Amino acid sequence: MPALTLDRLLSSIGFGSRKEARALVRMGLVELNGEVLEDPFMELAERPANITVNGEEVPTVEKLYVMLHKPVDVECSHNARDHQSVFALLPDRFTAMGIQSVGRLDADSEGLILLSNQGDFIHKIESPKKGFLKRYRVTLARPFTEAQKAELLKGVMLKDERRPVLAREISEERVVLPDGREVDTVVITIGEGLYHQVRRMFAAVGNHVETLTRISVGPLELDATLGKGGWRFLTDEEVAAFL
Ligand code: URA
Repeated sequence: MPALTLDRLLSSIGFGSRKEARALVRMGLVELNGEVLEDPFMELAERPANITVNGEEVPTVEKLYVMLHKPVDVECSHNARDHQSVFALLPDRFTAMGIQSVGRLDADSEGLILLSNQGDFIHKIESPKKGFLKRYRVTLARPFTEAQKAELLKGVMLKDERRPVLAREISEERVVLPDGREVDTVVITIGEGLYHQVRRMFAAVGNHVETLTRISVGPLELDATLGKGGWRFLTDEEVAAFL
């Protein structure tokens, strides 16, 4: 393994090429433990937990595992066409480090989205074989009937799909909104991640999804302390629960 020089460390955490990283050091913008570092080729005996760049203390992890509370009108694409990109809600350096979303949520949907730059993590969660369940809370345009519930649990055929898809679980909940209003919501658990799957399933039984929030993926629940657009790193335990 080549020695961990300061320029190499900065480049590995998204601060550009090694040449660009060296320029940051020469401009006096890099500090460690409160001291400005002047030598871009300085060898670090070990990876520090954090480093300060341009006044901001950043962790030096190379493997990114992130949970984000996606708001509506945000697209899960690096080349968003009609809305803001979800990646614009994260530090730019994450894009330089190769971060991708794990699956997608529609622009009209909100809630838990995972992002990572680790291919094995992304593939594991996306793989239908692993069968990580996803839970969504929806509000509906029309009353939700027992007949609709029974049909969803039995399975519905969606256009252009080869097999019926079914709800693994469905429950109804009354939720108090931040403004004090109470609304009836339905929580549905599915195993696949087909295009617009939840909206299409409710449409197939004659209802219509008005709002859709993903509240969990596999063992991980949306962190209620994250406001819309907020994000945090996953803990080691949360990552291990998937792998
Ligand atoms: N199902 C949908 O219809 N939309 C999503 O964003 C996710 C699941």
